[in-house]
Amino acid sequence: MNEKHALVVGGTGMLAKVTLWLADNHANVSVIGRTQKKHRQLLERASDPARLHNIAVDYHDLGALETKLKRAMDEHGPISVVVCWSPFYPAVERIGRVISERTDNWQLYHVKGSRRYFDDEPLRVPASCLYRSIYLGFVSNGNRSRWLTHDEIAAGIIEGVKNDEDRAVVGTIHPYENRPR
Ligand SMILES: NC(=O)c1ccc[n+]([C@@H]2O[C@H](COP(=O)([O-])OP(=O)(O)OC[C@H]3O[C@@H](n4cnc5c(N)ncnc54)[C@H](OP(=O)(O)O)[C@@H]3O)[C@@H](O)[C@H]2O)c1
Repeated sequence: MNEKHALVVGGTGMLAKVTLWLADNHANVSVIGRTQKKHRQLLERASDPARLHNIAVDYHDLGALETKLKRAMDEHGPISVVVCWSPFYPAVERIGRVISERTDNWQLYHVKGSRRYFDDEPLRVPASCLYRSIYLGFVSNGNRSRWLTHDEIAAGIIEGVKNDEDRAVVGTIHPYENRPR
C-alpha cells in the first residue's frame, strides 16, 4: 500500500490528459466524475487502465463524496496529490479534511477560472496541505483573444504541477479587459 495515489476531481473532462499523465507517474489515480461513459472513454486512452479508478459521485453530495473517498483510500492508499477542477468549494474543503485524516503531507493543485484570480471565495485548507492555485486564462493575439483549448489547458496544468509554484496562470490574464466575451 506504499504506492502513490493521486486524485483528480473532474478528471474526465478537459483535465483528461492531466489524469492520464498522472497515471503514468502514480500507481493509482482516482477520478471523480458522475458519468460512467466518460470514465470508460478515459480508460480507452490510458496506457494502463488498471491504474484509473472512477469515483462516481456528484460532489455536491458531501456525505457520499466522503464515503467514496474513504473507500478509495482504503483500497489504494492515502492520497498524496490532488488536481481539482470544481467551483463548489465545500466539496474541496471536505476532500481536504478527509485526506488530512490519513496524510500529513499532501499537495492540492486547485484549478480555477480566470475570474477567481481577482475575486475568489475563501477556502479552508488543512495544515497538512500544500496549496497551489492554477488559473485558466486566455490567449491574446493583438486585438483578438480566445479561450484556451483543452490541450492547452491540460498542458498548462501539467506544467503547473511540475513547476509547483504557489500561483500559476495558463495562458494570460492581463489585461483582463481583453478576455474573449
Ligand atoms: N479559461 C478557459 O479557457 C476556460 C476555463 C474554464 C472552462 N473552459 C471551457 O469550458 C468548458 C466547460 O467546462 P466544464 O466545467 O464543463 O469542464 P469539463 O472539464 O469539460 O467537465 C467537468 C468535469 O467535472 C466533472 N463534474 C462536473 N460536475 C460534477 C459534479 N457535480 N460532481 C462530480 N463531477 C462533476 C465532469 O464529469 P461528469 O459530468 O461525468 O460529472 C467532468 O469530468 C471546457 O470544456 C473548457 O473548454 C475554458
